[in-house]
Amino acid sequence: MTTHQIMIVEDEDIQRRQLVRVLSGDERAIFEARSGEEALTLLATQRFDLVISDLKMPGISGLDLVKKIKVAFPHTSLLLITAHATVDSAIQAMKIGVEDYLAKPFGSEELKLVVERIFEKRNLLAQNVLLREQLESQFSFGNIISKNHRMRKIFSTVVSIAPTDSTVLIQGETGTGKELIAKAIHFNSPRKEKRFVPVDCGALPDTLLEAELFGHEKGAFTGAVSRRVGKLEYANGGTLFLDEVGNMSSAMQVKILRALEERLFQRIGSNDPVAVDIRLIAATNIDLLTLVRQGRFREDLYYRLKVIPLEIPPLRERLEDIPLLARHFLKIYRDRMGKNVNEITHAAVKKLMTYAWPGNVRELENIIERTVATITGNCIDEIDLPELGEARNQDPLANQSLIDIPLSQRTAELERKYLFELLNRIGGNTPLAAEMAGLGLRTLQRKLKELGIKPEDFKSQSSQFDK
Ligand SMILES: Nc1ncnc2c1ncn2[C@@H]1O[C@H](COP(=O)(O)OP(=O)(O)OP(=O)(O)O)[C@@H](O)[C@H]1O
Ligand SMILES: [Mg+2]
Repeated sequence: MTTHQIMIVEDEDIQRRQLVRVLSGDERAIFEARSGEEALTLLATQRFDLVISDLKMPGISGLDLVKKIKVAFPHTSLLLITAHATVDSAIQAMKIGVEDYLAKPFGSEELKLVVERIFEKRNLLAQNVLLREQLESQFSFGNIISKNHRMRKIFSTVVSIAPTDSTVLIQGETGTGKELIAKAIHFNSPRKEKRFVPVDCGALPDTLLEAELFGHEKGAFTGAVSRRVGKLEYANGGTLFLDEVGNMSSAMQVKILRALEERLFQRIGSNDPVAVDIRLIAATNIDLLTLVRQGRFREDLYYRLKVIPLEIPPLRERLEDIPLLARHFLKIYRDRMGKNVNEITHAAVKKLMTYAWPGNVRELENIIERTVATITGNCIDEIDLPELGEARNQDPLANQSLIDIPLSQRTAELERKYLFELLNRIGGNTPLAAEMAGLGLRTLQRKLKELGIKPEDFKSQSSQFDK
């Protein structure tokens, strides 16, 4: 059994001794303070499970004292006692997060009961926290949560390859956690004290991307008013994360390949080669092999990058992670927003598990964030969740016989499905989608409009947020 440490703060001697007498017991160590100031001195040297304080005292008031304790020692429970029981002070006390509130006069039994209740609650909470922590550490790899066997395998690969300098290619749909895995590799590697430098190859036109990667000398081109160090140099000693490599033009592919093979490059406007020591991690949400077959990605670069390939499964192929991730994000956003939302019902989890999650974990995270922001109760139920799009397994083409539905409708359904998947895979890049679908850009745009598909819904967000 552990001993509970209790502090009683009361300026009137007789009352303080009375409280000590009533609460004394085998598993309790009771400390006394005659003022808020004295209480703070004691708190500086000792951890308390419970502080019982009078409200009205000369000097620091009881309310101010508990406010201070709440901030500095959030794990200490608080009980306020007052002779001036007004609704106002009760509300104020509860708002600060005081466990309970006793109005004088009260009997010894009432006091004992209230204190026992507080300790019972603390016990339950402690068990809960412990249980949660055990569960989570079992299914987490740092801040990456999963109990899916394919993901667990990726975690163990990450552990074994992190110490090496081998190039890694991470493939997976948008929002599956590619950047998270890349960071895990970096921070588990001997390079962890050096920089992790992400570059989004899909977001910039060639000239800008080249300057971004290789840097330039002063006066190398119009606008190059001073010398600029590129990301390759900036990442020296650390890890360079080339994101969306599938979107790189063939000219850039050549330049990157050369720099990778020689570990040497030149700043734009300079002939002097610069040597760098970097570990390279590349990521893509377009299947590179398909691009290679279509002649849109250099085969030699593909094999250079694919030394260690990691394929992150989409969320709909690891349904077991959905409840785990939902609770994980619930906890994060609840704490961040200071809200008291603790649970999510089975019905709500079920609803989350039937949705297809085209935006994968990021989309789930956004949904939970939005729900926590708007909810008023302390448990997320089905109706608290926003409207989710089309459910998984609801394939309109699968159920009826082919000719039961007019051809025009069939075609529209197929087009919608095709374009949805395509945009999802390439992160909403419409020119690329048009090319891959074998359509003109205008035609594609018209179709998207007719079908009510918004390409911006598929855009990747990490580049804007993670910098
Ligand atoms: N297994 C996971 N556990 C916890 N959080 C996750 C997990 N997977 C992804 N996330 C979170 O989801 C969001 C998206 O992850 P990340 O940016 O790594 O995805 P991505 O694959 O790089 O996406 P994109 O292709 O759009 O760039 C981040 O906020 C990340 O923290
Ligand atoms: Mg990313």
